[in-house]
Amino acid sequence: MPVNLRGRSFLKLLDFTPDEIRYLIKLSKQFKHLKLSGTPHRYLEGKNIVLLFEKTSTRTRCSFEVGGMDLGMGVTYLDPGSSQMGKKESIEDTARVLGRMYDGIEYRGFSQELVEELADKAGVPVWNGLTDAFHPTQMIADMLTVEENFPHRGLKGLKLVFMGDAENNVANSLMVVCSKLGMHFVACGPQARMPKEDLVNTCKEICKETGGSVTLTDDVKAAVTDAHVIYTDIWVSMGEPDELWAERIKLLEPYRVTKDVMALAAPDAIFMHCLPSFHDTNTTIGADIAKKFGVTEMEVSDEVFESHQSKVFDEAENRMHTIKAIMYATLA
Ligand code: CP
Ligand code: NVA
Repeated sequence: MPVNLRGRSFLKLLDFTPDEIRYLIKLSKQFKHLKLSGTPHRYLEGKNIVLLFEKTSTRTRCSFEVGGMDLGMGVTYLDPGSSQMGKKESIEDTARVLGRMYDGIEYRGFSQELVEELADKAGVPVWNGLTDAFHPTQMIADMLTVEENFPHRGLKGLKLVFMGDAENNVANSLMVVCSKLGMHFVACGPQARMPKEDLVNTCKEICKETGGSVTLTDDVKAAVTDAHVIYTDIWVSMGEPDELWAERIKLLEPYRVTKDVMALAAPDAIFMHCLPSFHDTNTTIGADIAKKFGVTEMEVSDEVFESHQSKVFDEAENRMHTIKAIMYATLA
């Protein structure tokens, strides 16, 4: 059946079929080609979008802004400091107002329930730019990046290992997208930070259809042996209190991605990270952690981050091409 996503919101990948996800990856490749060949693609001229951010962002915001402008759209950026949102007007009321003015709404915030409610009320497509539970736009970029690195194998059957804080939004989303695409997802971290049982069970059900698998383990060697993709993310996510750093460092240090970890993976394995990353002390938080705890690199060693196996900047660039595809597919 041909895929048609017009008018749909993009809130979590559980809402999409494997064919729909593959369609978005394919469309992203086309947009990447248009961008890199300098071919204009102002296909959504006359439309306007608004970006609501309750948490900070570099990649997601810039991808929606540049992507929106490349497609010929007007783009408005709003944060809680420059709008009535949150303080004087609920997100729901804000959505109902914005839905009268804009053709699409991006929202980055805290609860998944809220973005779902926003989509329910807005009357126009809503794109989830990250919640505490999921980061779905990141996943299309990640899968495009994996596919670019294994062009002759395809995604099905590849083994992706998430190391570290496996209970966070990015790990949850990777588990879902890998399950949908028939990949082997391994969460490698402490028992205390594993994806919730409900979501694991849902993904295992999906795997029965797609041939993928989900494994949770605290055994680094077993997890990473022969892996095609080693993925990690920061140990304390946005919205979590700074007091958690001490506990998380203790819990997650054994799961840092190092040269030894990469050596156990497949010879052509790649390293991925959604970014931002604490791989050195060149950030205020990184420097502060080094001072307080004596840790100079956290979820990934600087050596791996800077190695030829690291695809993190291709992955970041792919955010723009894939977000463009998501907006085009749902608005055109
Ligand atoms: N990966 C990602 O979402 O980055 P930003 O927080 O900079 O948007
Ligand atoms: N888990 C991270 C992802 C950032 C893109 C966070 O939520 O802060």
